[in-house]
Amino acid sequence: MGRFENVTRLAQPASRSVVADLGCGPGRLTRALLATDAALVHAVDVAATLDDDLLLDPRVRAHIADLDRPLPLPEAGLDVAISLNTLEHLADPAAHLDDVQRLLRPGGRFVLAQSDWDTALFSSTDDQLTRTLIDHWVAHAPSAGASVDGFAGRKLLRYADVSGLALESVHSWADPHRRFDVGSVAWKVATGVLAAVSDDRDLSARAAGWVEELRQLARAGRFLFTVTDVAVVLRKA
Ligand SMILES: C[S@@+](CC[C@H](N)C(=O)[O-])C[C@H]1O[C@@H](n2cnc3c(N)ncnc32)[C@H](O)[C@@H]1O
Repeated sequence: MGRFENVTRLAQPASRSVVADLGCGPGRLTRALLATDAALVHAVDVAATLDDDLLLDPRVRAHIADLDRPLPLPEAGLDVAISLNTLEHLADPAAHLDDVQRLLRPGGRFVLAQSDWDTALFSSTDDQLTRTLIDHWVAHAPSAGASVDGFAGRKLLRYADVSGLALESVHSWADPHRRFDVGSVAWKVATGVLAAVSDDRDLSARAAGWVEELRQLARAGRFLFTVTDVAVVLRKA
């Protein structure tokens, strides 16, 4: 079972639930939610990222909205909200949790899940270089003005603690990723690593060699990438 199915299972949506996928991206979690008996999925993202077929699905309502501001959804209208790998991008995660609390109905559940990118594991033969590259990557902002917290997974309990929501349970897992081709999770991370060291000519050259070795390991069936995912299940009283 992958992370999308994992967080959907943790949310336990009842039949005909109204749910929200906060920071939906292309909609992989939205698809997992549609596979349940959800009546309506609010798919929210700051950009127009949702796949076209999901935009046409009558059970999906797409919203382009900033999660750093109060969301334009009906107050106390959600049975379930899920945030997967979105919190790391937000300027004020605590304010976002307050807003989610406002949007949940009493008894509603919020699954807050986040990969802790500093725990990324690559099956490279050069552990020292891998450590150096991951350190650069988690400290690197993906674009001017943007910021990402590569340690956000381990902070979820802290955010849960200051939210007005009750903590139901805590979970963590690491999915094994064996692919290293364009479009794979590991490839995307490696692309981020290359971008993070692009200003350093020497490290950039070593990173290119590192990626080439990962490619060869994948061809030989000896590639592994994992990262620790953390999830907290919160409930509105
Ligand atoms: C790493 S992606 C995760 C996408 C999806 N949840 C998944 O796990 O496949 C983070 C998503 O959060 C969105 N995002 C970042 N900052 C946001 C904000 N302030 N408001 C709404 N969405 C935001 C991005 O556009 C992106 O689609």
